[in-house]
Amino acid sequence: MHNMKKSSLAPGFYKLNPKERLEFIKDFADLSDDECASLQNIGSLPIDVADRMIENVVGAIPIPLGVAVNFLINKHDYLIPMAIEEPSVVAAASYAAKMVRDGGGFQTSSTAPVMIGQIQTVGIKDPHSAKMRVIQAKEEILRKANDQDPVLVSVGGGAKDLDAKVINTTEGLMLITELHVDCRDAMGANAVNTMAEAVAPIIERVTGGRVYLRIISNLATKRLVRAFCVVPKDSVGGKEVVDGIVNASAFAAADPYRAATHNKGIMNGIIAVILATCNDHRAIEAGGHAYAVKNGQYTTLSMWERNADGDLVGSIELPMAVGLIGGAMRTHPTAKVAMKILGVKTANEFGEVLAAVGLAQNLGALRALASEGIQRGHMSLHAKNIAVMAGAAGKLVDAVAERMIKERKIRMDRAKELIDEYKATGKI
Ligand code: MEV
Repeated sequence: MHNMKKSSLAPGFYKLNPKERLEFIKDFADLSDDECASLQNIGSLPIDVADRMIENVVGAIPIPLGVAVNFLINKHDYLIPMAIEEPSVVAAASYAAKMVRDGGGFQTSSTAPVMIGQIQTVGIKDPHSAKMRVIQAKEEILRKANDQDPVLVSVGGGAKDLDAKVINTTEGLMLITELHVDCRDAMGANAVNTMAEAVAPIIERVTGGRVYLRIISNLATKRLVRAFCVVPKDSVGGKEVVDGIVNASAFAAADPYRAATHNKGIMNGIIAVILATCNDHRAIEAGGHAYAVKNGQYTTLSMWERNADGDLVGSIELPMAVGLIGGAMRTHPTAKVAMKILGVKTANEFGEVLAAVGLAQNLGALRALASEGIQRGHMSLHAKNIAVMAGAAGKLVDAVAERMIKERKIRMDRAKELIDEYKATGKI
């Protein structure tokens, strides 16, 4: 191991600037100058902006940004920016959006953008009556919460309601108070956490207990987005393929092992947009998967059925904690452009577009799985990657990739031979 004798203990590391930090890393991991340069080859994100976004910055990692086309959502056309390292995702989303377009596009809806803030209170003598006292103090608690964010209140948002529940834990009974905060166009973590912290003293006074955690819940069941679509059976490839997709959906709905992969396919689309726009993808993943188990068994976030005409109908519902204001999407130059491409005007519209993208991505995967299998699409990009790694450029990339696919020999050695062959014959 290269760092057997070197210590990772680095007091004051955070105070260094990115260049100085990189010197430390370079020494620790024996990096070459080229390797250091690749950490700092960061395209449109200036290092000082990156350095303000997170701690201990030494560079940035560019991820390919693609744009999915063909999306028609509520009769509006959208281009969908997607940042992802996996081949075939952007192509599959575009292909699926085209099929859905044939059926009139996606239709979407959403609830109000309400997030839940939890306040945990322990050590209460009479937790069940304390719950009633908290509910009785609702007006005071909501007023205190709303005092924290007059701007949010002025645009129609703010703490609207609260609920409380007694839970039985390994540490005894606890009272959990939940603030329901309409976050309007913000993701809401800052607003909700501030409110939860501010109301804690009132809850301690009313309950006689001790408050520990005061934090947003990522299981955003009050901030749901929905999308559905009709795909004409001929657009999807005929009755056989419709049957295959409906059966795939039924399999996933009944089996958590398949549901996890089915939902992973949905997240391929959603998270790629979330990443391109620099939103919090961990919040979306956590919320989505927790929502998928809301009835006690982990299941799918989407369903595919046949309608009376034998066409394919798809639907999806999941929590979607995304915002348009604040956060990294306002500071990251690429994310700002991605948001402009997307062109959404409200957080709700953004969330609904994400639901449509998730459903499209799911359809793209299931259609491939139910017909030719997933590998064909993957293989063509894989072959192109191998051709590039073997030294092909320009038109040679496609030519070499196509030959390798035809020969079913997608390997570096074969790519090199083919490059030499094309170069020798001067054909390309
Ligand atoms: C691969 O990234 C995603 C799929 O596995 C999704 C699915 O199986 O539905 C293709």
